[in-house]
Amino acid sequence: MQLIFLGAPGTGKGTQASNLAERHGIPQISTGDILRKAVQDGTELGKIARSVMESGGLVSDEIIIQLIRERFTQQDCSKGYILDGFPRTIEQAESLDGMLGSRPVSAVIYFDVPEKVIVERLTSRRVCAHCGNVYNVMTNPPPADNFCDKCHGPVIQRDDDREVTVKNRLRVYEEKTAPLKRYYEKQGKLFFIDGSQSVDKVRQDIDKVITATSV
Ligand code: AP5
Repeated sequence: MQLIFLGAPGTGKGTQASNLAERHGIPQISTGDILRKAVQDGTELGKIARSVMESGGLVSDEIIIQLIRERFTQQDCSKGYILDGFPRTIEQAESLDGMLGSRPVSAVIYFDVPEKVIVERLTSRRVCAHCGNVYNVMTNPPPADNFCDKCHGPVIQRDDDREVTVKNRLRVYEEKTAPLKRYYEKQGKLFFIDGSQSVDKVRQDIDKVITATSV
């Protein structure tokens, strides 16, 4: 199972990728999570990524492609993976095609959600600063003491989830990432999911795509 989860920020990619990864025992490869960890650890990568992420822009293709190339060398990718937040530009998608060669992605699942819902979801999202577990103050609130119920880490709001940054992320998405729909449509790999449904319903629709595309 080699999947790409594609969609604007806040459409539910991470929520579904983490669930699917757990159920199938394959890794969720989230470039956003890798970059946030680097920022938290204060590495060279983190120092470069920090200001870009805070502004809602994209980290350079060169850095991201190298990061994915290295991630693919890890043993846990041998049975499959879910790419969450990568690729995000045509250049990243072309490099990915080159990296995968004769074992291309099996399906690209596109999460379709209206912008108004996205802004509501992102401004009310909270995450565990330690393990990244995702909450939402409206639909899936964190424990009353604001500590994660999985690892007891502090639950916080991501810096880039403030409304002004969210708007910029959506602009960047339209300009740089939305053209990937056409790119994968031409390859016959794009599947649309109505991401504004409940978490359970979205999960069921993803399972249907997986069943339909597995040989
Ligand atoms: P990244 O972490 O990838 O952020 P993103 O794509 O903007 O995606 P999000 O994590 O915001 O949203 P999501 O779709 O995963 O939604 P979630 O499931 O959390 O990237 C962050 C930054 O890193 C980028 O801006 C960029 O700077 C950099 N970066 C990362 N990758 C890069 C790349 N490849 N190239 C260059 N730069 C890169 O859900 C959102 C909320 O909604 C949650 O609160 C959740 O509980 C709730 N929710 C989810 N599903 C539902 C549902 N069905 N119903 C109701 N609520 C729901």
